[in-house]
Amino acid sequence: MLTLGIETSCDETGIALYHGERGLLAHALHSQVAMHAEYGGVVPELASRDHIRRIVPLIRETVKMAACELSDVDAIAYTQGPGLAGALLVGASVAAALAYALNIPTLGVHHLEGHLLSPLLEENPPAFTFIALLVSGGHTQLMEVGGVGRYALLGETLDDAAGEAFDKTAKLLGLGYPGGPALSKLAEQGTPGRFKLPRPMINSGDLNFSFSGLKTAVLTLARKHAPDEASRADIARAFQEAIVEVLTVKALAAVQQTGHRRLVVAGGVGANRQLRAQLSGAAQRQGIDVYYPKLEFCTDNGAMIAFAGAQRLRHLNTQDRRFNVRARWELNQLEAV
Ligand code: KG4
Ligand code: ZN
Repeated sequence: MLTLGIETSCDETGIALYHGERGLLAHALHSQVAMHAEYGGVVPELASRDHIRRIVPLIRETVKMAACELSDVDAIAYTQGPGLAGALLVGASVAAALAYALNIPTLGVHHLEGHLLSPLLEENPPAFTFIALLVSGGHTQLMEVGGVGRYALLGETLDDAAGEAFDKTAKLLGLGYPGGPALSKLAEQGTPGRFKLPRPMINSGDLNFSFSGLKTAVLTLARKHAPDEASRADIARAFQEAIVEVLTVKALAAVQQTGHRRLVVAGGVGANRQLRAQLSGAAQRQGIDVYYPKLEFCTDNGAMIAFAGAQRLRHLNTQDRRFNVRARWELNQLEAV
């Protein structure tokens, strides 16, 4: 079965073709980062309009890359939520229109389910059950993943998401949008240990997180040491060290508490090099296997939506062509397959 995946939840138009036996055939992405950078963040209306401009040419390009025809597609999976309502509607309505024309079914996919399952696209995928550290721009969660749709929340952030903390801190340090990659790059030039920031909730005894206090601590440091360039790098370093340590300690605690020996890291912050290095090192010492998606599949993409859709469509005999979007949508509302 050939599934076309469409992702338009935020500022990336992602398209992919996933084949049940042959795997991922092709994928294409258009990032709106340059367009939103001017405004210091995503402008929802501009995002929707750009998805409209890009989506059909990207679908054509993906079909061509996969050396197949649109008529070969058996089903369409689109991101139904959570995300920006207008942006989601572009993907959902294009999916529905194409499905009518091709007389094939559509399926709305939960964006976070896409992220959670994205490491399964790799060559040596983790077996169920595993623990997932989901670290994106909007979410920071530890989940126990027993199968497709079998998600138990173990802990989550009580305020800012990890990616959001990266983005806000980057802004404080005068770096552009999106802040995560820029801050991480600056941190690599910083001196380790010059500044020490708090590790929020590291000893809370549960698996929850809190990152909003870190930006206040950064602000205080930045005010004291600005505008010195070296200090900015040292502050970025201290921030990254704090956030990476908390994520590492809590993720490994979740693995220890549940007894599962497999940890999956997914979502945009999973692209962070220091997080990967520290987590992999600590996990190895404890005999835990860590799985990551490819860097390009950490941030938003169509491949994870095509893949997650394909897993559900295998078990679902649907001819549904209605479509709707959900700007807010909890993962634990999903049905297991
Ligand atoms: O998963 P994602 O692409 O979108 C959401 O679903 O939210 O995650 C985007 C987030 C942004 O906050 C971005 O700054 C962060 O991931 N990010 C990073 C890195 N690359 C992306 N944060 C830290 N280090 C990175 N290398
Ligand atoms: Zn995402």
